[in-house]
Amino acid sequence: MSHTLEYDGLSVRYGRGGSAHQAVDDVSLVVRPGTVHGLVGESGSGKSTLAAATVGLVRATSGAIRLDGTEVTRGTAGRRARRRIQLIFQDPHSALDPRMSIGTSIAEAMRASGRRRSRVERRQRVRELLELVDIEPDRYREPPAGFSGGQRQRITIARALAAEPDVIIADEITSALDVSVQGVVLNLLRELQSELNLTMLLISHNLAVVRYVCHTVTVLRHGRVVETGDTERTLSDPQDPYTKALLDAVPVLGERPDWGSVA
Ligand SMILES: Nc1ncnc2c1ncn2[C@@H]1O[C@H](COP(=O)(O)OP(=O)(O)O)[C@@H](O)[C@H]1O
Ligand SMILES: [Mg+2]
Repeated sequence: MSHTLEYDGLSVRYGRGGSAHQAVDDVSLVVRPGTVHGLVGESGSGKSTLAAATVGLVRATSGAIRLDGTEVTRGTAGRRARRRIQLIFQDPHSALDPRMSIGTSIAEAMRASGRRRSRVERRQRVRELLELVDIEPDRYREPPAGFSGGQRQRITIARALAAEPDVIIADEITSALDVSVQGVVLNLLRELQSELNLTMLLISHNLAVVRYVCHTVTVLRHGRVVETGDTERTLSDPQDPYTKALLDAVPVLGERPDWGSVA
């Protein structure tokens, strides 16, 4: 059930010639099975580009991305492997199709798992998934418009889980939410991670979010890895001046933000 996502010298360049921009520059990191790996860095440091390259939305200039050893950017095997990776985006308002009931959105995502299910089984699974993310299962017929931002983000998590992915990439999934609602979503992520032993790459510009959820962390600057290591050790004793500067810029990091009890 546990899987490894590995980046090996990944580079992504936008544009050509004089206007070319190296958004991701020779990045290597390993998301170990059953762990949450944080990717942190200022806006524009290349985090979303790395996520987009992983699921094939942008093309890698060089380097490799491997899921359990299979290069995800190459051939049929790669395409199959890539479907085992689910990306959850920042914006819970545009992530769900407004014309579809949330139940249908989740049921559609189940197809990606490749598992055959009857209608009854699908409906049952939708209810289970909604319950898992603390949404009243009887609301499966409703469109996303009736749900708050935090609830929608939980529904997108349910949808990602519906595909039974090997790895989840969560890109700034709490950034658009109020701080109190962020806590609910982050606590849910932590619970799901330990219950389901998820393997996850959690992308955030917010060091406090990374510190709260991630076992290990990679700090990115201008597309390059600045440092990687155990989260607590890296953030309490940063070796690189850039990480120090990032920490200094986030005063809340002196203590854990009040996101509730640590399970
Ligand atoms: N589609 C694109 N075309 C050209 N440049 C892009 C594109 N997407 C992002 N960039 C640039 O690549 C760099 C990294 O962006 P991004 O990966 O979005 O960073 P982050 O997610 O860390 O904020 C930025 O300088 C950004 O302006
Ligand atoms: Mg981004």
